[in-house]
Amino acid sequence: METRTIKLTESAFKYGNLNLRSCGEDFFPPDVFGGPDRKSGIGNVITLKVEGLPELIKTDIPTDRVSGKPRWIFRDRAWAKAFVRSNKLQPGDDVTISRLARRTYSLVVNGLSRSSRMAKSLETQLEECGLPKVTNDRAVECTKESWIQPTFAPVQRKGQHCDYGTFKDSLNAPIHRWFKYPAGYSYRLVEEKIRHYSLAARHLLLDPFIGCGTTCVEAKRHGVNSIGIEAHQFVRWVAQTKINWGISVSSVAEAFQSVVKTARAIISAERVSLAVVTELVRKCYSEPNLMSLIAIRDAITNEVEPGEVRDFLNLALTDTLRNASRAATGWPYIAPAKMHQKTNEKDAFEAFRVQVRRMLDDVRFMQKYYSDHEVSTKVVLGDARSLNANIRPVSADLALTSPPYLNNYDYADRTRLETYFFGWYNTWREITENVRDKLIVSATTQVTRKRCHEDAILSKEIKFVEPKLFAELSKKIAELTARRLQKGGKKSYDIMVAEYFNGMLDVLRQVYLYLKNGSDFVLVLGDSAPYGVYIPTHTYLSRLGLGIGFSSYQLEQLRARGDKWRTNPQRHKVALNEVILTLSK
Ligand SMILES: C[S@@+](CC[C@H](N)C(=O)[O-])C[C@H]1O[C@@H](n2cnc3c(N)ncnc32)[C@H](O)[C@@H]1O
Repeated sequence: METRTIKLTESAFKYGNLNLRSCGEDFFPPDVFGGPDRKSGIGNVITLKVEGLPELIKTDIPTDRVSGKPRWIFRDRAWAKAFVRSNKLQPGDDVTISRLARRTYSLVVNGLSRSSRMAKSLETQLEECGLPKVTNDRAVECTKESWIQPTFAPVQRKGQHCDYGTFKDSLNAPIHRWFKYPAGYSYRLVEEKIRHYSLAARHLLLDPFIGCGTTCVEAKRHGVNSIGIEAHQFVRWVAQTKINWGISVSSVAEAFQSVVKTARAIISAERVSLAVVTELVRKCYSEPNLMSLIAIRDAITNEVEPGEVRDFLNLALTDTLRNASRAATGWPYIAPAKMHQKTNEKDAFEAFRVQVRRMLDDVRFMQKYYSDHEVSTKVVLGDARSLNANIRPVSADLALTSPPYLNNYDYADRTRLETYFFGWYNTWREITENVRDKLIVSATTQVTRKRCHEDAILSKEIKFVEPKLFAELSKKIAELTARRLQKGGKKSYDIMVAEYFNGMLDVLRQVYLYLKNGSDFVLVLGDSAPYGVYIPTHTYLSRLGLGIGFSSYQLEQLRARGDKWRTNPQRHKVALNEVILTLSK
């Protein structure tokens, strides 16, 4: 095996430049030298296995615009900063680059082995940065044995349905627990489907409604390529942040330490202004706790440059927002003023510290057990009704998703506290324009009645694809229009139902186009009964699926739902279910 030594200079730490001149031209195949910029063409990429980094690095070496000679640095080099940081290197240290195959190299640190260099353990470093161990953190400890089991069959007891779990499982699983998304599904379901379809590194898994990223996190964990689409910008950002578990633990710890210091200084200097804070956010906290949260937020912005470390800390602060709130559960449907307040409000700094530490424990856990997978994981801001440009047609080996249910759940409202606090949006109108209007209609808050003609809300496309279903749905919609007038709330369930199926038809068509022949589209669905009119979503989508070309379908009962409303006199008495629909192309 041929090896060369590279001496690190300041430039490696500032710009990620590793000086390759000492390697000599014959150390690299001639075709890895590309043009001066990407436009003029990149060379054949080499793969680098870099000590301490979970991802394999793929890059070429650019040439000089004038002389045409190699520039002796890698073209992609953002990773090099993470490499020097995670290995605690200094200018003047040596690293060894070895050729493992024609275009495959390894990069390791000279001298002591990495583990002995890390003798001052990460644990000590975390403590020094103000991040001591969190006691009673069941998630990581329990999961060491149980969670890393590669796969398991869904539990099925005699006379009962399969148990693929619920999002509650995800709240106790590393990474998945970083954001409590009530709309999320269980990671176990994704894991089971990956196992059932024997997906591997050569396959692509598509989720057109990725939400907070459950499907992509699981696909990455199991070494499967994946692409997730999400139309809600904030939720997409959450998913994107969750898949970056290659992040450097020490960099986060150091950033955390300086953020806390700066935040405390901001508070002491009385530089926190509550003037621009929206009423809704203000109502959720005592004034001192709100000031702490704002100071932490501003310190992250001031101290940490944009990138994965800043995102990581902001996601920890996102979770802190709910944990440090005195508003009780029930949010977002009950306005904060009407809430039962918690007797004890958790201190914002403490809640933030605990969450950062928990997330770092998850990162360490993932890096230890799952660092070797070389897969592509993409979370794209887009619309499931028009997937264009994000994915090649006929390329997905499986589509797996949980679309919005027709249960009047407002995703924009669910994230109102977070998006207002971080200043993504400031008003109901802004979240309507930027979120509600971009999502498939599944809540009456997305409907503007004035814009619709009651007798023409169901798309003629549905009539074309499945005339009998069109007639049946039209009857239900007319029933909803009539019941609306008899009900106090006058909710536009009729338009909501019509728009939902109009949109889902487009989704089915899109996914059909992007699936490989013979592949399946698996949907986790909930039926619904607005104003007591039963809408069997799974049956209707099965029929639409067959209408657009899927060859067959299967239904599998997941669970009964809605039980907790049973005693509420305002609610309908229709029994509701969650069902898995599998459409085969
Ligand atoms: C039931 S949730 C999916 C949850 C996901 N399985 C998880 O575990 O987080 C449905 C998601 O679809 C998103 N969504 C709604 N309309 C969309 C559209 N037209 N295109 C893409 N995503 C959309 C919503 O914002 C929501 O996050």
